[in-house]
Amino acid sequence: MTRIPKINVGLFGLGTVGGSVFQILKDHEHFIAEKIGYPIQITKICELDPKKKQQYELASSILTNKISDILDDPEISIVVELIGDKPIAKEIMLKALSLGKHVVTANKAILAHHGLELYSEAFKHEVDIYFEAAVAGSIPILRTLREGFVSDKIISVQGIINGTSNYILTKMAKEKADFKVALADAQKNGYAEADPTSDIEGIDAACKLSILATMAYGVFIPYDKIYRQGISEITPFDIEMAQKFGFSLKLLAISRKTNQEIDVRVHPTMIPATHLLAHVYGVLNAVMIEGEYMGPSVMMGKGAGGKPTATAVASDIIEIARNISRQVRGIPPLGFKAENIQKAKIKPIEEIESEYYLRFTAVDKPGVFAKIAHVLGHHEISIASVHQEGREEGHEVPIMVLTHRAKEKNVICALKEIDKLPTVAQKTLLIRIERS
Ligand SMILES: NC(=O)c1ccc[n+]([C@@H]2O[C@H](COP(=O)([O-])OP(=O)(O)OC[C@H]3O[C@@H](n4cnc5c(N)ncnc54)[C@H](OP(=O)(O)O)[C@@H]3O)[C@@H](O)[C@H]2O)c1
Repeated sequence: MTRIPKINVGLFGLGTVGGSVFQILKDHEHFIAEKIGYPIQITKICELDPKKKQQYELASSILTNKISDILDDPEISIVVELIGDKPIAKEIMLKALSLGKHVVTANKAILAHHGLELYSEAFKHEVDIYFEAAVAGSIPILRTLREGFVSDKIISVQGIINGTSNYILTKMAKEKADFKVALADAQKNGYAEADPTSDIEGIDAACKLSILATMAYGVFIPYDKIYRQGISEITPFDIEMAQKFGFSLKLLAISRKTNQEIDVRVHPTMIPATHLLAHVYGVLNAVMIEGEYMGPSVMMGKGAGGKPTATAVASDIIEIARNISRQVRGIPPLGFKAENIQKAKIKPIEEIESEYYLRFTAVDKPGVFAKIAHVLGHHEISIASVHQEGREEGHEVPIMVLTHRAKEKNVICALKEIDKLPTVAQKTLLIRIERS
C-alpha cells in the first residue's frame, strides 16, 4: 500500500499574500489533493495581529505569535515566509533551512540583498528554497527559466516588472496626466503604497531583476550592483514625444550578457511601438527572455496582488510537497548547481552604449542649439533628429534630440557641460532607447 505523505506547512505572516495563500490552500484543498494525491495543510500560522484569528476563522491551536512554535515543530517540513522586508524574515528563513526545513518566500528584497547566504544555507542542509512569487506574481517566469529554458544559453532578460510604475506611465500616456496626479490615482486604487519610493524609483524592479538575472546567467547579481533610474522626472510631454518619434515609454528592467560581463539596469526606456513589450499596459507585468537557440519569448500577467501572488507561493509549496513525497531533491532553485554560485562581473553603466532621447530646456534665441550641438559633437555624440516644440523668443523651450548610438560616459560628460551653459535653464532629461 502506498504511504500517503503528510505535508505540513508553517506560515509566517497572514497579510495580503499570506492571507490569500491560506485561502487558496483552503478553497482548493480537495482539488489540490486530487491533483497530487495527498492533502497539503497549513498546521501553524505565526502572525502578530490577533484580529486575524477572527478574520480567517482560525482555531486557537493554529495561530501563534511565537516563531519557535513553527520552527521547533518536527511535523512541519515546509516553512512559508510572507512577513516582508524585515531582518527577522531573513533570520526565520536561515534558521528553518538550518533545521532541514524547506522554505518558500516571496521576499524579493531579502533575496536581492542576501540571496547568496540563503541559497548557500539551503545547499548546505540539502533542502530547497523556492521563491516564484518574488518576481512577477502570477507569471511562472522563474520556473520557466529553471526548467523550460534549461537547455538554452540566455542572452537577455527584459521586463516590465513593477505594476505600479506601469500603471502610472499608462495613465500619463492615455490621459496626459501629470506624474503626481497619476501617482495619486494609483494610491487611491490601491496600486501604490502611501510611501511609493520603492515602486517609482525602480527599487522594487531592481530587486526582481537581481533574482531574474541571477537565474538567467547562473551568477549572483546583488541589488546594489544594479543601475537604477526612476520615473518621477518623466512628464506627459516626454511620453507624447516618445509616441511622436514612434516609441512607447516604459520602466524597463534590462539585463544582457556580453562575453563575461553582465549589463543590468532599471530605467525609463523608449522602445519601438512594435516591440513585444510596448503594449503592456496598466498593472500588468511582462517578461521577455531571449535565448541563443530559442529567440525571444514573452510571458505576461498580473504581477502583484494577494490572489495572483498566492498562486505562485502555493505552486512552490506543491512542488516541494511532490519532491518530499517522491523522496527526491528538487531541481536546484536557481536552475544551476548551487555550489557553483559566483559573484557576477557587472558592466558599469558608464560603459554601456545606447541611443538616447535628450530633453534640453533652453532659452529660445539664435545660436543656442548650435552650442548644444557643438558640445555633443565634441563628445562624439551624433544627432539622429531634433525637434523643438513651440517658439517663444527669449523664453525657455524644450528641445528634444535623438542621438545615434553613443557611449554613455560621453553622454554624461556632454550633459555636464551643456547643463552649465548660461542659456540652458534646467537639468537635461536623459532617456535611453532600446530597440530589441
Ligand atoms: N502584496 C503583493 O502584491 C506582493 C507581491 C509579490 C511579493 N510580495 C512579497 O510578499 C511578502 C509579503 O507581502 P504582503 O503584501 O503580504 O505584506 P503585508 O500585507 O504587510 O503582510 C505581512 C504580514 O506579516 C505580519 N508580520 C510582521 N512581522 C511579523 C512577525 N515577526 N511574525 C509574524 N508575522 C509578522 C504582518 O502583521 P502586522 O500587519 O500586524 O505587522 C502582516 O500581517 C513581502 O516580502 C512582499 O515583498 C508581495
